[in-house]
Amino acid sequence: MSADPFAQLKASQREGWSLFAPLETHTTVTAAELVRHARIRAGQSVLDVACGTGVVALTAARIGAKVCALDLSPALIEHGRRHSALAGVEVDFREGDVEALPYENAGFDVVVSQFGHMFAPRPEVAVGEMLRVLRPGGTIAFSTWPPEHYVGQMFALVARYVPPPAGAAPPPLWGDPGVIRQRLGEAVEALSFRRGVMIFPALSPQHYRKGIEETLGPVAKLVAGLEDDPARLSAFRSELDGFVAQHFEGNAIRQDYLMTSARKR
Ligand SMILES: C[S@@+](CC[C@H](N)C(=O)[O-])C[C@H]1O[C@@H](n2cnc3c(N)ncnc32)[C@H](O)[C@@H]1O
Repeated sequence: MSADPFAQLKASQREGWSLFAPLETHTTVTAAELVRHARIRAGQSVLDVACGTGVVALTAARIGAKVCALDLSPALIEHGRRHSALAGVEVDFREGDVEALPYENAGFDVVVSQFGHMFAPRPEVAVGEMLRVLRPGGTIAFSTWPPEHYVGQMFALVARYVPPPAGAAPPPLWGDPGVIRQRLGEAVEALSFRRGVMIFPALSPQHYRKGIEETLGPVAKLVAGLEDDPARLSAFRSELDGFVAQHFEGNAIRQDYLMTSARKR
């Protein structure tokens, strides 16, 4: 097996994303939306890819699905295990990489990912793996941040300050229906899209910024990386505050996202 050319990026992502647990409050409601969009039912075998603390996995398990869940971050997996014990449901959590899934071919009825697989640097490898472990006739479904809306643009701003390694695809492209259609290609049929909105409360753009500096992997990494460059860090902060202010209304930031589902041929 050849060495992973993005091993260093993934080690850095694993560390950054380990701070994500407090943000599960915001992904909990959208998790129920994705479970509904994927039409998950009791008895189905489901894989939640890039599961974080397991919000989608637990939602599916609570309605009676048999669920496996995988994430890069062992810290988040630990949270997930505690959540499933508290809810009294079983989820088989595992540490791993969506680009090299440790599951057999065609073993799942449904493969889902909420704001997760989009961060893998090689979309074609990630989607190839998700489709490999899905049975023919099974459902692939995911939620992603479109490039034209707030979160997609915020990630583009972060990428201007900390450019990703050469060859890594920009995550928000996974929020473009045309790109999704092309990436899933002939492997699927019955492709369908639905828009959703996450309302993210904050007392001010600065409160929001401080919150994501402490919890959102790519932003936390950026801030840590610019510790020795206060001028550039301050430029990033004021650019982000100004940008957030444009999307701030009623003590909240509106975050539009896209849900996709399709059937594997
Ligand atoms: C925005 S969080 C979403 C977490 C969770 N799905 C939720 O909705 O709360 C992104 C997640 O993707 C995971 N992730 C990023 N790259 C990954 C990869 N290559 N393989 C597996 N997980 C990955 C991170 O560790 C993180 O938990």
